[in-house]
Amino acid sequence: MGSSGFSSSSTAEEVTQGINGSGLTAIVTGTTHGIGTETARVLALRGVHVIMAARDVIAAKAVKEAILKEIPTAKVDAMELDLSSMTSVRKFALEYISSGLPLNILINNAGISAFPFTLSKDNIELQFATNHLGHFLLTNLLLDTLKKTASESKKEGRIIIVSSDGHQYTYPEGILFDKINDESSYQKWHAYGQSKLANILHANELTRLLKEDGIDNITANSLHPGAIMDTNIYKPEINGPVPTDLINRLGSFLLKNIQQGAATTCYVALHPQVRGISGEYFSDNNLAKASSLAKDTNLAKKLWDFSMKTIDYNTHEQI
Ligand SMILES: NC(=O)c1ccc[n+]([C@@H]2O[C@H](COP(=O)([O-])OP(=O)(O)OC[C@H]3O[C@@H](n4cnc5c(N)ncnc54)[C@H](OP(=O)(O)O)[C@@H]3O)[C@@H](O)[C@H]2O)c1
Repeated sequence: MGSSGFSSSSTAEEVTQGINGSGLTAIVTGTTHGIGTETARVLALRGVHVIMAARDVIAAKAVKEAILKEIPTAKVDAMELDLSSMTSVRKFALEYISSGLPLNILINNAGISAFPFTLSKDNIELQFATNHLGHFLLTNLLLDTLKKTASESKKEGRIIIVSSDGHQYTYPEGILFDKINDESSYQKWHAYGQSKLANILHANELTRLLKEDGIDNITANSLHPGAIMDTNIYKPEINGPVPTDLINRLGSFLLKNIQQGAATTCYVALHPQVRGISGEYFSDNNLAKASSLAKDTNLAKKLWDFSMKTIDYNTHEQI
């Protein structure tokens, strides 16, 4: 049991027990499977209006129906978002902003892991494109909506980025800025670790920039959900065996079920204990320690500049 009063075995329902989320609106990415589905369900259970952002809208609508069957009063909607395509991210953000909906909570949850080398539609290595860059662009495009909602509703806006303890298993250099799309340097598990390291650096640099701009009513945190085998993210036939040195690096850990796997996300998104906390890394519903690379402020700034250049370059390419 950590200082929050919760532990690795606490479920998403337990960590949000008694919290009234009605009046809040959240976007959750990647809700068609695993942790994202349970996150959407539990936020909806607590009264939050949940927008499920999914690349497979038919699957997201099936999740919506299942949630409504269990919670008839739930406010849940599905919108199309493919994080590996900047055109799709821009289209989603435009549609969201045009809808006039407020935005209190943004949960960047969607992810892929240990894929064989693949380039996205924008010619960017697929794990970096999906796990980091798509979410980076999405967050930037929705930041004004988060700011507007926070000031009008007088409620803290929260950005939650689902990373992984696998961030420790990145390339020795941290982020291969000059070789992001270089197939010959590619190692699929390190590339996953690299994208998850980028998730933490993103939350940290965003926190710094918000503080620099005097914005104290929006927080940005990252987290490790735990090791959850019954989601879709790890499939031995696609991802191959988990390297032994990765298992050794992570040390001993307990496997979680999906209800426990969604808990830290729901805790950071809704719990009053987290109010005002920003730029932190959470695990097992408590504050946790990220690697020294993840805490490197120069690396965070370098990644921010690199990401800005990459999305901007891509915009010009489209024009
Ligand atoms: N499970 C674990 O042990 C574990 C450990 C550490 C961190 N995490 C992190 O937890 C998060 C959720 O993982 P999970 O285990 O719940 O995985 P999952 O069951 O595979 O779910 C991933 C979700 O992301 C969506 N997604 C993938 N690519 C996308 C794209 N291009 N655009 C939009 N959505 C996309 C998937 O949609 P489709 O249905 O269309 O594929 C799915 O809904 C990930 O960020 C992962 O890195 C998981």
